Amino acid sequence: MDILSIILGLFVVCGLSFFMGSYFDAMWLPTKRSDYDRIAKLSELKSGMSFCDLGSGSSNLLFYLAEKYRVNCVGIEIAPFWYLFSKIKSLFYNNVKIKYDNFYNQDISQVDVVYVYLLPRTYEKLKNKVVKELKIGGKLIISSWPLQDVDTLYFVYKNQKNNSPTYYLYEKKP
Ligand SMILES: C[S@@+](CC[C@H](N)C(=O)[O-])C[C@H]1O[C@@H](n2cnc3c(N)ncnc32)[C@H](O)[C@@H]1O
Repeated sequence: MDILSIILGLFVVCGLSFFMGSYFDAMWLPTKRSDYDRIAKLSELKSGMSFCDLGSGSSNLLFYLAEKYRVNCVGIEIAPFWYLFSKIKSLFYNNVKIKYDNFYNQDISQVDVVYVYLLPRTYEKLKNKVVKELKIGGKLIISSWPLQDVDTLYFVYKNQKNNSPTYYLYEKKP
């Protein structure tokens, strides 16, 4: 095998492991760092609460919240590159866990706040899981697009800001 084929092969493997999420529900695009505190405020985060990012990418949001707000964070990621990147970083945090999985397979029934930044078509698929599994009083924060027709979730608040995504907060009804 010549050197060019090896380099090309490596390039393809790296690319696939980086963008694999787009084959599933959304490609990697990070939440803006300047929005991290908006999300924390919307969630009413308190020390000891649990926060889960479905499709956590680099998990930078989780590392920030874990450090600043002392919450217990879980990230679920399917792109190998981002999983490894955040898994290694999580070894330095005792309140951040990163799992390699398709988020549809993960139980979210014990989580206080679930965060998602994906695509509208994915939100529709994810809606049934969240409605079924989220505990009573559990919160869901959605970036950029609202959910359609969700009877078992309260629509609580819309956090809008110029030149920045809108965040929608939902809460599970008793
Ligand atoms: C738009 S990015 C958001 C990243 C991160 N949540 C943030 O806000 O910075 C979506 C992430 O979801 C991951 N993803 C897409 N479909 C997934 C699935 N079914 N299971 C787990 N992760 C998935 C992608 O690999 C990507 O990293």
